[in-house]
Amino acid sequence: MIQTILLKNRPVGEPKISDFEFKKEDIDLSITDGELLLETEYISVDPYLRGRMSSAKSYVPPFELDKPISSGIVAKVIATKNENYKEGDFVSGLLEWKTKQVSNGENLQKVNKDLAPLSAYLGIIGMTGLTAYLGLNEIGKPKSGETLVVSGAAGAVGSVVGQIGKILGLNVIGIAGSDEKVDMLTSEFGFDHGINYKTTENMKEAIEKAAPNGVDVYFDNVGGPISDAVLFNINQFARIIICGAISVYNKTETPMSVSVQPFLVKNSALMQGFIVSNYAKKFPEAMKQLSTWLKEDKLTYSETIVEGFDNTPQAFLDMMNGKNKGKMIVKA
Ligand SMILES: NC(=O)c1ccc[n+]([C@@H]2O[C@H](COP(=O)([O-])OP(=O)(O)OC[C@H]3O[C@@H](n4cnc5c(N)ncnc54)[C@H](OP(=O)(O)O)[C@@H]3O)[C@@H](O)[C@H]2O)c1
Repeated sequence: MIQTILLKNRPVGEPKISDFEFKKEDIDLSITDGELLLETEYISVDPYLRGRMSSAKSYVPPFELDKPISSGIVAKVIATKNENYKEGDFVSGLLEWKTKQVSNGENLQKVNKDLAPLSAYLGIIGMTGLTAYLGLNEIGKPKSGETLVVSGAAGAVGSVVGQIGKILGLNVIGIAGSDEKVDMLTSEFGFDHGINYKTTENMKEAIEKAAPNGVDVYFDNVGGPISDAVLFNINQFARIIICGAISVYNKTETPMSVSVQPFLVKNSALMQGFIVSNYAKKFPEAMKQLSTWLKEDKLTYSETIVEGFDNTPQAFLDMMNGKNKGKMIVKA
């Protein structure tokens, strides 16, 4: 018997548990030559999945209705007829929300549980770590002494961006949604300042106060009014990395923002969209640097781990609502 989670409805506005279907199936899990049987260990729940739940055109195709949802998963090989894998190996890859599944071994990476905890392969040394490192370096081109602002700062990507900023000698300001998260930014992750956007009335002034010399690099995870407020504080030749826009993912109408053009023209500033998969050639180099910093204790990470495969949709909803600190992961 295996369990599967499917997309039942395309969410309108905020997704609900009723948009997902839980199925128990008695299916044939026998494998043929070249195949392996995987048992799910850890599931990554990510903001971009919200985009795939809608039918809108994007850089990844939408999920199909009544079909399993997929995301980054770490799984254990429990049977194999593929010479590249042996029983007991752990792999990561884009896999379906199923407790067990058959794979042909393509697009899987072996992961070593002796080098790092398995869950870390979905976060700091997985997609979110790569996003932080490559987005900041490739577009942000940070220089020591500059000021970096990070939104979504206490989340998976943001918490790593800020720490890399500190390693590179920047003044780092993080924006997050609770006092507890803001404390964590300075006490755990070494940021210089934190701003709670939920309790701050005038974000433009708060950023100005935290960044008296202006903002040189803005790593934008959220879009919306927070990012509008940052724009008022950018310096000449500022670089703005548009990594995500979680504040608008559930909007049912096209959101209105300030007009960015005058800010960009006046400051000769750069604003560029970033998708991590476009930088696949640089993954080995980025992974090497992230692992080195981890080993040297220059980098740390936080995870919110939810127990139970059945809780995967709820974990996704909770992450969208800011209940996570660091990377949100489900232990199946
Ligand atoms: N472009 C790429 O290749 C790529 C790759 C990975 C991730 N991303 C993007 O990077 C961003 C962060 O992803 P992640 O995986 O690290 O997620 P995350 O930050 O760990 O979790 C999402 C966080 O978003 C914040 N949030 C929710 N609603 C918000 C709102 N209305 N305004 C401001 N903040 C809000 C919540 O924190 P608070 O408590 O602070 O509100 C929540 O914890 C997302 O936009 C995602 O789409 C992009």
